[in-house]
Amino acid sequence: MNDQGNGGIRIVAVLGTARPGNFTAKALALVIDEIKKHRDIAVQVIDPSTMELPFPGADEDSAQTRMLQETVAEATGVIFSTPEYHGSYSSVAKLVIENLGFPSVLAGKPVALLGVAAGQIGAIKALEHLRSVLSHIGAIVLPGPVSVAGVQSVFDDEGRCLDDQIEKRIRSVATNLIDYTRRNICPRVALEAMTRRGPPVRWVPPEREATETSE
Ligand SMILES: Cc1cc2nc3c(=O)[nH]c(=O)nc-3n(C[C@H](O)[C@H](O)[C@H](O)COP(=O)(O)O)c2cc1C
Repeated sequence: MNDQGNGGIRIVAVLGTARPGNFTAKALALVIDEIKKHRDIAVQVIDPSTMELPFPGADEDSAQTRMLQETVAEATGVIFSTPEYHGSYSSVAKLVIENLGFPSVLAGKPVALLGVAAGQIGAIKALEHLRSVLSHIGAIVLPGPVSVAGVQSVFDDEGRCLDDQIEKRIRSVATNLIDYTRRNICPRVALEAMTRRGPPVRWVPPEREATETSE
């Protein structure tokens, strides 16, 4: 896998819950599987259940916070996944956001959203609230968030998706972010690198080529 400096893409996928056996992780696993089809793209999952993120302002210099910020700062793009809890996105997703700094390392990063809910209206409210907060901190929240309703009947115990159309929609979170990144972020990164290094070859108009090369 290339790193970003060599033109590769790094995606960080945030799991927005720490509930044991959560369905958000099952949906996010499909997105990650879709990303892994691209050999030039590195993907890293942020799973808050494996971390000890401090409450906002409690320990701004914690090793976990620094590691999280470094990981996200190096990302070309971010996937944010959340369950719908009490008509909004999860407090765990908010805790991740709080630990990304103020100003946030998410500023200027493209972010694609995935939400899942037990209820029939899906994770619409969670996604709208999350979009609002991420936009506030300067992230470029991509259009086309994916909401999965009635998620308990969408996956089996092994995490297989039982509905092809829903699986396609969930996977589109990955392709949406990858397409945006390839079109908008990679050319910018390449251009910046070229500006630092100088163009690879000096262009000489054909009519001057003979003189210039003999000098
Ligand atoms: C604290 C809590 C609050 C919840 N509130 C809602 C809700 O407002 N609307 C809804 O559709 N489902 C709600 N649910 C159910 C979740 O949407 C359900 O657990 C679903 O599987 C997604 O969450 P998960 O990733 O934790 O599995 C709630 C679940 C929990 C644990």
